[in-house]
Amino acid sequence: MVPRLIVVSNRVAVPDPEGPRQAGGLAVAVNAALKHREGIWFGWSGEISEDGAETSPRVITRRQRSFVTIDLSATDFQEYYNGFANRVLWPILHYRVDLAEFTAVDLGGYLRVNARFAEALSRFIRPDDWIWVHDYHLLPLAKELRARGHDNPIGFFLHIPCPSPDILMALPQHAETMATLAQYDLVGTQTEHDAENLRHYFEQQGATFGRNRVAFDLDGRRVQLRSFPVAIATKVYARTARTAIRSDFAAEMRDSLNSRKLILGVDRLDYSKGIPHRIQGFGQFLETFPQWRHHVTYLQVTPKSRSEVPEYADINQTVITLVGQINGRYGEPAWTPIRYVNRAYSRASLAALYRMAAVGLVTPLRDGMNLVAKEYIAAQDPEDPGVLVLSQFAGAAEELDGALLVNPLEAEAMAAAIDTALQMPLAERQERHRRMYRHLSANDIDRWAERFLSALAESQQAPRLFDNLRSLFVARG
Ligand code: G6P
Repeated sequence: MVPRLIVVSNRVAVPDPEGPRQAGGLAVAVNAALKHREGIWFGWSGEISEDGAETSPRVITRRQRSFVTIDLSATDFQEYYNGFANRVLWPILHYRVDLAEFTAVDLGGYLRVNARFAEALSRFIRPDDWIWVHDYHLLPLAKELRARGHDNPIGFFLHIPCPSPDILMALPQHAETMATLAQYDLVGTQTEHDAENLRHYFEQQGATFGRNRVAFDLDGRRVQLRSFPVAIATKVYARTARTAIRSDFAAEMRDSLNSRKLILGVDRLDYSKGIPHRIQGFGQFLETFPQWRHHVTYLQVTPKSRSEVPEYADINQTVITLVGQINGRYGEPAWTPIRYVNRAYSRASLAALYRMAAVGLVTPLRDGMNLVAKEYIAAQDPEDPGVLVLSQFAGAAEELDGALLVNPLEAEAMAAAIDTALQMPLAERQERHRRMYRHLSANDIDRWAERFLSALAESQQAPRLFDNLRSLFVARG
């Protein structure tokens, strides 16, 4: 019997019969995890209730899957989401200690909301359920669940990077958040580099590792710690792109390009994405390679994000100013070098844009994985693929060895990579694409979910096997 799976994440993609299909990476990942099993997806509804208003969980059931959501109060939202999660954990785990704005009140709110999640979830948990918790909003959730007597297998997956202990130690009261990861049975990171950083952190907390370093013991608990690079539904995405390229949206876009080559960036508006550096890199490209002026269009699609967090409002101003400077400097009445769009597009529209783009620019300053990079590859026409220019600081760089890797801080290197990409001979583009597509097909989101859940199963069997052997030994002794 396949155990029931409870997935917990800050946001829940509750199906909306009237809305578009859920496009986000997390929704695709959770759907893969819940594919062949009964399950619950639990988290925040996205709604804010008035402080003091008691709201109970809302449950929507679709076939063998239930979506259970709770509202956050205005104070919870401020302290937990805008505060500790997105003004302390997000910057520090993205190596931006300089941007962290810690307050004890926000940490209190974060811990309180985690306790609320555990309290609300508790009554849905059966003893043989498996629980899979996602991302930095919910680091202490297992501790709260254990405190309520749930000794179910609980796994955690960190979607964002994990820096070295030197940086993690800058996190005030890190024992309350990072170190509570030891309450899970399995902790997954995006890359081996992240996993190794976390292992070093736990070593400093007194954990002892076995020889293969995939499990540690701390305070009487055995925890597995491994990397599981998150993936996409590669073949489905390729199919979506093949269809979407024939849409009216794609035709209109193609007409507007007027035979110019498309250079494309798609990112949430977030300082970790390196958008200002990318725009400067593009400006440098126009400066160093003037022969490309008039012959390229750079489209930057950037839906706004976390707008109530001050650093996010600042980055918006910076980007607008830079786009204006470059368009003012190089633009002509009949040619705008950069198109900057603050809207979110459907999965299909994005797939069409990816397929049309001769160059995909994915140059975050730091990124757990970056699924845009993987989607860009999946969306290409194998006969005439575009070229991915990828930051060495994106988790995806550990896997996508056919991309042109750049340091996003080096404008000249970015400029040269764009030129190389635009000039790359067809045979080389095909060969690089084939290699990466093959990797992404073999390592798609279904396989990712399967790998994580098998590891969670193993984490249960290993100690039991050990206990059985010990009891055998004791009985014989
Ligand atoms: C990143 C995080 C996710 C988060 C998403 C959107 O990908 O890893 O956990 O859901 O950003 O951010 P938001 O704050 O809008 O949920």
